[in-house]
Amino acid sequence: MTDTLFTPLTLRDTEIRNRVMLSPMCQYSAEGGLATDWHRVHLGSRAAGGAGVVMTEATAVEPRGRITPDCLGIWSDEHAEAIEPIVEFVRSQGATPGIQLAHAGRKASHRPPAEGSAPIPADEPDGWETVSATDEPYPSGDRGDGEGGEPATTRRLDADGIAEVVDAFAAAAERSRDVGFEVAEVHAAHGYLLHQFCSPVTNDRDDEYGGSFEDRTRLLREVVAAVRDVWPDGKPVFVRISATDWLPDRDSWDVDDSVRLAPLLADAGADLIDVSGGGIHPDQELPGAGPGYQVPYAEAIRDGTDVPVAAVGGITEPTHADALVRNGRADLVALGRELLRHPHWPLEAAHELGADVEWPVQYRRGRFD
Ligand SMILES: Cc1cc2nc3c(=O)[nH]c(=O)nc-3n(C[C@H](O)[C@H](O)[C@H](O)COP(=O)(O)O)c2cc1C
Repeated sequence: MTDTLFTPLTLRDTEIRNRVMLSPMCQYSAEGGLATDWHRVHLGSRAAGGAGVVMTEATAVEPRGRITPDCLGIWSDEHAEAIEPIVEFVRSQGATPGIQLAHAGRKASHRPPAEGSAPIPADEPDGWETVSATDEPYPSGDRGDGEGGEPATTRRLDADGIAEVVDAFAAAAERSRDVGFEVAEVHAAHGYLLHQFCSPVTNDRDDEYGGSFEDRTRLLREVVAAVRDVWPDGKPVFVRISATDWLPDRDSWDVDDSVRLAPLLADAGADLIDVSGGGIHPDQELPGAGPGYQVPYAEAIRDGTDVPVAAVGGITEPTHADALVRNGRADLVALGRELLRHPHWPLEAAHELGADVEWPVQYRRGRFD
């Protein structure tokens, strides 16, 4: 039988009730990295709204891995305890709770967007020195949108520093497991730390973590293996990648690299690749962001490798999302901005597509039929 948007997806022993994922979206609403009421409402309402996977925003595995001082973190037990009741609520609604484990690398230490997104120099009280594959800072001063500033200083990680990053991802995954998350997503997209190692645009190393494709992807593969090592056998690990750097004018990461990488990530223990794009450098040539603008990248990986994929980007219409699954272009469909506009999008989509889904008992009188 043909799978549809409302066919459950089973990965390992985990059944996800449908193919809709809340795409990870930074909320800049944490306090010292701790989840707040805002996270309870943001994640809780998308769970009540019928999403299959409710994914947290980028959640830092160590304090210097936060994009901004207001970003969420899971680097201590206190952070895990703060998010535990939210995870329990998400599960109580029948959704599968996921956590995006992240490290911003040289794109850390920035102001939140509401305050202009400028870099915060390391010597300011709420700034810090960032780390990366390179000691070249992210060229924030060159963003071209008038919001740049002096880049934060960046330190190239040495072998010990790299080992600490792997350990931080593993410890964060253990804490996430212990508070009931069912999906761990390793964030290796959008120009953040793991992407900084993979891309030749930012990796200028000549040790075993730089140079060849194999060496540039080594840290990501090590992180995925370390997360898989502590993650329950029956539960899935996702990896979000940028399929392309959108920098055709220079030696950069492209879709062929992503097709080559996907089976290596599967060998390291990943069960699904969440396929996004861009973010490594402000010179990127953004494609038109029309409906499904990044779907061809997900499809290329699925076709070239048989590794399950999530597609994301400009997906707003139920019939479009449904067709992506029906036509075998994606296994999971991630919605970002559309789920900001419509927290109950999955319930409404089910009605439009004629699928019979459970509504929260409190909302049953709102059903269309
Ligand atoms: C407010 C906002 C915050 C975001 N934060 C993250 C994030 O934390 N991690 C991530 O991988 N992508 C992040 N993204 C990207 C989205 O997950 C998604 O890939 C992108 O918005 C394209 O999908 P859409 O067209 O459905 O919004 C963010 C997007 C938005 C709009």
